[in-house]
Amino acid sequence: MSELPSFERWGDLHHRRVLVRVDFNCPVSVVDDRVRVADDFRIRATVPLFEDLLSRGAEVVACTHFGRPKGQVVAEFSVAPIRERLNELCSGVELLENLRFSPGEESNDRAFGESLIAGFDYYVNEAFSASHRAHASIMVPPKMVPSAAGPNLRREVSMLQSLLDSPARPFVAIVGGAKVSDKLGIVKVLAQKADVVVVGGGMAYTFESSQGRTIGSSLFDPRYLAECARLMDAGNVLIPADSRGLADGQPFGRDGGPDEPVYFGPNIPDGFEGLDIGPEAVASFEQAIASAATILWNGPVGVFEDPRFAMGTEAVARAVAASSAVSVIGGGDSVAALHEFGLEDRVSFVSTGGGASLEFVELGDLPGLVALRESPFP
Ligand code: 3PG
Ligand code: MG
Repeated sequence: MSELPSFERWGDLHHRRVLVRVDFNCPVSVVDDRVRVADDFRIRATVPLFEDLLSRGAEVVACTHFGRPKGQVVAEFSVAPIRERLNELCSGVELLENLRFSPGEESNDRAFGESLIAGFDYYVNEAFSASHRAHASIMVPPKMVPSAAGPNLRREVSMLQSLLDSPARPFVAIVGGAKVSDKLGIVKVLAQKADVVVVGGGMAYTFESSQGRTIGSSLFDPRYLAECARLMDAGNVLIPADSRGLADGQPFGRDGGPDEPVYFGPNIPDGFEGLDIGPEAVASFEQAIASAATILWNGPVGVFEDPRFAMGTEAVARAVAASSAVSVIGGGDSVAALHEFGLEDRVSFVSTGGGASLEFVELGDLPGLVALRESPFP
């Protein structure tokens, strides 16, 4: 794949205006009646780029989406708290209001994109985690002005690319999450590329059902049964040997619930729902992860926000952290799990983009990267 253009080639930037597309779609929380950025990881990661551009004399303006206001001005999704945190971390950079307040952003409207870039000399895409969205701020500026990939975007792409092109083996991928419909495409690709694909979470029950096991009222999507069975035949997909959960209708979630988890073994009876992997599955997942020289992990293997069903995800997180393999973690939930268990410093690379990194692995490219490569400016 051809190189992404870099801004090094622009040289001196005095009296030049640079628009930087960032992804400051950060979690926020309300403290003392004020909305504040709860996790500024994405902002802090961008400060070195801003400082570099400023030190070369540029006038720097940043733009981001925030939440999903769907083309309407919604006060709750104003970037004001993000702008405040940015100003604390780095002075001299202006941040435009939420791009998604304009309907033209998500519809990739050419005129909206042109109005955004009007008056700028250069464009930098430093939003890897939004580059799977063919939205105006991602797609239009590279057609209009000399454009470049930011350093973090570049790093994410080269990390994922080398993992796909030449992983140290064994390469073990762990894919979790609730919906088999969201993740089957990636499991299919990884079954070709990785030595072992470990599947857990709600999506695993459709795989278990495809093997003739009973799954009670666990998450299930019959549309994918045949495909799951085919993937199992390939022989390198490892699913949970057993599971734990609750009787139907019992509460679970962040606030927990009164009932003790029920252990099911390999088959879940009618009237019960699987919510986490069991001890045999934990042992086999740990063994697979311990054998790896390269690890890709995306998605929890149980309802880990409920402490009663965190055992599987915590075991995966600890096994990944304990491994000396190159480990790449993507996706908000897996990153949140690492954070919860205090392990984020013990992995090689935490990707900022969950959806974007999955789509990159699955399809081999992203619309925003294509737009940069196809930019007609030298
Ligand atoms: C994210 O946080 O996942 C990215 O900013 C993309 O946001 P989106 O899923 O609303 O497009
Ligand atoms: Mg998302």
